[in-house]
Amino acid sequence: MKNIDNFMRSLIVGLGEEKIVSFYDKIPQQGKKLRSKLIFEIAKNSKQATKLAAVIEMIHLASLLHDDVIDSALIRRNANSFNADFGDKRAIMMGDVLYSCAFSHLSSLPQSVAMFVSNAVASLSIGELLDVELSKTFNTSKENYFKMIYCKTASLIEASAYAAAVLEGFEGEDFALYGKNLGLAFQIIDDVLDVTSNDKMLGKPALHDFKEGKVTLPYLYMYEECKEKDKKHMISLHKKSLSSYENAWIKDKMTEFGVIERCLKEAKKFGNEALSAIEKYNMEGLKNIIGQMIERDF
Ligand code: FPP
Ligand code: MG
Repeated sequence: MKNIDNFMRSLIVGLGEEKIVSFYDKIPQQGKKLRSKLIFEIAKNSKQATKLAAVIEMIHLASLLHDDVIDSALIRRNANSFNADFGDKRAIMMGDVLYSCAFSHLSSLPQSVAMFVSNAVASLSIGELLDVELSKTFNTSKENYFKMIYCKTASLIEASAYAAAVLEGFEGEDFALYGKNLGLAFQIIDDVLDVTSNDKMLGKPALHDFKEGKVTLPYLYMYEECKEKDKKHMISLHKKSLSSYENAWIKDKMTEFGVIERCLKEAKKFGNEALSAIEKYNMEGLKNIIGQMIERDF
């Protein structure tokens, strides 16, 4: 994955603006690179795979720069977020530089790839908007949650898999379906880890979603199971800075109702759907990606 970091940097250097390169070097970068791993696993022989991976990672990085401004997040990848150190305005502008640079290189890839990826970026933005809207009140609709995580997360993973397949000469739609289901499973696991993991492992504050207003799948399932009085109590805790006693109450209820197991089952269901979409290609690497993604702890 070092190659992809160097390639992305070379595209930024290619813009010919030293100040931009120096800001770029200050963005916390050690992400999981799930999208690149997926692209290299599918497009094993394509000379354009590195360019595609760089384009996708730059779009992803841009979306995180903007997301941290929107979420007022001060920590990302175990370091200060870019906005924490350099302010919201620079974070937004660096996001703009990254995704417009990515788009100019995207335009040199096959038209169907450029189209699918551009549509996914529109979806990302719609997903972020939905996330913000849903967080304003206590959302109890699973349908809204799934629509939002499809747009916010799964659409770019779907596009990565589709685009890599097209570059490799495979049937794009099969891989798009794999990517979409992988993306849905990925976001569910992310939402579970927010509850079960800790700040150090996650590289960002744990138990933060509910405080931000996000009623993610573990909270949706918990709400479903709660008696009326506890439902009211849950709503009263939404969007608040919780005491350790209140956090423990939520975790206890989740344990009592087997909420985490239910979420993991749901993520595995999407994982299996992803695998059946590409069964005929018998690609061991893609099976491993699903397994590692579901079993990860950060
Ligand atoms: C992280 O979600 C956010 C995303 C996956 C997508 C953000 C998308 C945008 C800001 C749209 C703009 C797009 C571009 C290309 C500039 P999260 O807040 O649930 O995750 P986190 O806890 O890691 O922050
Ligand atoms: Mg965020």
